[in-house]
Amino acid sequence: MKRTLIAEAAESAGQQVKINGWVNGCRDHGGVIFMDIRDRSGIIQVVCPKKLPQVELIRPEWVLEVVGQVNKRPENMVNDKIDTGQVEIKAESVTVLSAAETPPFDLKEEGYEINEEIRLRYRYLDLRRPRLQRNLTRRHQVFNLARQFLSQEGFREVDTPILARSTPEGARDFVVPSRSYPGSFYALPQSPQQYKQMLMVGGLERYFQIARCFRDEDFRADRQAEFTQLDIEMSFIEQEDILSLIENLFRQIVEQVFPEKRIQQFPFPRLFYDDVMQKYQSDRPDLRTSSDPNELAFAFVIDFPMFEQQTERKGWAPVHHPFTRPQTEDIDLLKKDPGKVKAFQYDLVLNGSEVGGGSLRTYRPEMLQAVFEVLGHKEQEIKDNFGHLLEAFQYGVPPHGGIAVGLDRFLAMVLNEKNIREVIPFPKTEAGRELMTGAPAPITDDQMREIKLEFQKDQ
Ligand code: AMO
Repeated sequence: MKRTLIAEAAESAGQQVKINGWVNGCRDHGGVIFMDIRDRSGIIQVVCPKKLPQVELIRPEWVLEVVGQVNKRPENMVNDKIDTGQVEIKAESVTVLSAAETPPFDLKEEGYEINEEIRLRYRYLDLRRPRLQRNLTRRHQVFNLARQFLSQEGFREVDTPILARSTPEGARDFVVPSRSYPGSFYALPQSPQQYKQMLMVGGLERYFQIARCFRDEDFRADRQAEFTQLDIEMSFIEQEDILSLIENLFRQIVEQVFPEKRIQQFPFPRLFYDDVMQKYQSDRPDLRTSSDPNELAFAFVIDFPMFEQQTERKGWAPVHHPFTRPQTEDIDLLKKDPGKVKAFQYDLVLNGSEVGGGSLRTYRPEMLQAVFEVLGHKEQEIKDNFGHLLEAFQYGVPPHGGIAVGLDRFLAMVLNEKNIREVIPFPKTEAGRELMTGAPAPITDDQMREIKLEFQKDQ
């Protein structure tokens, strides 16, 4: 007999079905035991006569196979709280597929009140919670829709290396020692930035990737060490082409995956950085005009300054990254007054959070060189870190630009989750630990010897 999903079983009154799932709860009612059985599609009530073998032993979270007849419930027994509340299954046989220890916390409620370290330690149980099931389902639907939408627009999904080279890009790198080249290291990419630009030189023209990025930063509610971007790069385009692509994509995502939500203004307003800073003292203003939890106030903040004064040492740093293209009419200012140079740089803002950012890129080698000089990179440093890109740009580079949207941040925002950990399958704690497997963890002395690394204890 083939398995029937619970949601389908609910439509099969009068038929015999076989369902598989977890025991959500059970209640002893004298001669029978009422069990709620849960699978990925829903929950249904099963009535088990006590005379069936083993049924009295069964506890929550055991995994069962139940064969029985789907019956309409009498009018006064209908349960409006669950989708399958019109019916129940009268069990003819119950097979225990797995017994279960009592879970360390309740799986039926929202779970916010439970100590998060315990939730993450047992993430596989936490994931059974309906809220997390919903979050991961929506996450999948967003990924899926983005893939479909961009594929239809002529984009190709291209995967780029995870073992890459350390380049100064803003945050601290995670590094991986090389066994074959002792003393040399790979770095995990902070974003696929350089690779996607190389793909433009490679003639792909329209690239996207649901890309994992790694940044060794201090974690916060909206920051993780590894996170996921919807990463996009396009050739032969203007800034407006990228902005309208993104707003159409996000309109579709909201309409199809979050129909309960309302986009406050479409097209998304384009706001100048200088105006926004003056009016809201922030480059990611919350533009909601109502306090409705379903309101989505998207906006693009455009015309960011190209450089900002470095905080730690003297000199200039790029506001976004060194490949951002200065605006054409400001090029003369590069040498004279870098602080006044505006860039073709934009952020996507949603309800006061920065959910995306991108820019048109500098593709003329001499201009890139001029930018690097403002940034104070020495000739050799430029060659070492960006030589491959500068070289590639000598072989016919198309004008190009792109954007990356932080999908975890976007999902947390639309799902009204305060912390991006609630939308990430296996997140790390605020202190950077993955508690289920216990990463990071020491490696063996043999492994250390192999990569010729010595551990230096704090002095
Ligand atoms: P940027 O560094 O602005 O741009 O990143 C783009 C978006 O990624 C999200 N984000 C994060 N989300 C969770 N945890 C983090 N630690 C984290 N850091 C960033 C944010 C942010 O807006 N390569 C460029 C994009 C480009 O120019 O095309 C880049 O990575 O939502």
